[in-house]
Amino acid sequence: MPLSADHFKSAMRRWGSGVSILTTRREGGIMGITVSSFCSVSLAPPMILVCIDKKARSHQLIERHRAFAINVLKTGQERLSELAAGHAGEQGNWLEGVPYRKAETGAPILNECLAWFDCMLQAIHDGGDHTIFVARVEAAGHSEGRPLLYYEGDYHRLAEPRPRHHGGSRPGRERKP
Ligand SMILES: Cc1cc2nc3c(=O)[nH]c(=O)nc-3n(C[C@H](O)[C@H](O)[C@H](O)COP(=O)(O)O)c2cc1C
Repeated sequence: MPLSADHFKSAMRRWGSGVSILTTRREGGIMGITVSSFCSVSLAPPMILVCIDKKARSHQLIERHRAFAINVLKTGQERLSELAAGHAGEQGNWLEGVPYRKAETGAPILNECLAWFDCMLQAIHDGGDHTIFVARVEAAGHSEGRPLLYYEGDYHRLAEPRPRHHGGSRPGRERKP
């Protein structure tokens, strides 16, 4: 029997992740889409990927402009995440009044976020009802704070770290960021 969408979703809900907003330019302002499918791909050159619903309005904007930004959200930015997830109506994705600046590629970077990546589209792969956008990271930055997390359809905060018993990573092996 083929796997039902409900079974697939209930298993996927057990995958905890960070929360980011992919931002692009649109006529008259910016457009945001909340994204948890953001993932690091390559260190040299620095590359990332995101999987975007083919029906999302941001999908065609990414293809048109090729430049976009990934803004990693921090604790306390639940409302912003809900806006860009369209839960406040379609215009919520316009992120009106949310301060941003233009990155080198022209992509809008949100002023308040934990980390940002200025990206230029490199490759497009089919991913069923989503498209896998692979992009080169032209610039990145971060600020102080704790990440916003998503698990089982709800927002969570990161617990305090365990005290460290051993130091550093193994020598001779470069790890993905
Ligand atoms: C925590 C969270 C993570 C999400 N991750 C993704 C994702 O990785 N890809 C995606 O296409 N939609 C994702 N969504 C759904 C989109 O944010 C939502 O469908 C969006 O409003 C569509 O925007 P549109 O107005 O461009 O259609 C996520 C929503 C939430 C709340």
